[in-house]
Amino acid sequence: MTRTFIAIELDETVRAALARLEARLARAAPSLRWTDTEKLHLTLAFLGELDDEQVRAANAATERAAANTRPFRVAVADVGYFGSRRAPRVVWAGVGGDTQWLLAAQARLADELAARGFPRAERPFAPHLTIARIQRPLAAEELDRLLTAIEQPPGGASRRASMMARGMTVMKSELAREGARYTPLARCAFHPA
Ligand code: 2AM
Repeated sequence: MTRTFIAIELDETVRAALARLEARLARAAPSLRWTDTEKLHLTLAFLGELDDEQVRAANAATERAAANTRPFRVAVADVGYFGSRRAPRVVWAGVGGDTQWLLAAQARLADELAARGFPRAERPFAPHLTIARIQRPLAAEELDRLLTAIEQPPGGASRRASMMARGMTVMKSELAREGARYTPLARCAFHPA
């Protein structure tokens, strides 16, 4: 079985901007688990454990959705969190750029997957990049510093970092004690503009 998801891979410019953003926030809240930016990608669909036939179906769905999508711009936007203000669970970087094209690409992929029998996600798609996870409740002081840092407008460079998304990738995820390992299974290029 293969733990599978479909994502847009990030380029070096965007990864570097996210690393700077993480470094700034980590100064405020060092005890969080900050994501290795080499492992970050913009997830469009999480499919869970698939057998070989399902992986082939996922590849076909992704290939078809990508062939009907033109390249579009993806930018690093705001910073926020999931969970409550008193107990955030995840710190994320928001996604800007041509967001209506991103949403259209994700919807197309969701339709192609549904047509091949994959259940639709229960929650609406909320594009984000998980930059930190909070496993234990934070001390009040660290929580305060984290919230202040999140609410501060990001520096110019990281705010404006952007890239062209030129395809979608079917990815394998292997969970290990030292963190997840991701391997591309199929890279599906968008239709050139
Ligand atoms: P996350 O960063 O918000 O956790 C690989 O795990 C990718 O799939 C991550 O980008 C993760 O998003 C996403 N994902 C979505 N739903 C998931 C789920 N139920 N379990 C694990 N990862 C999920």
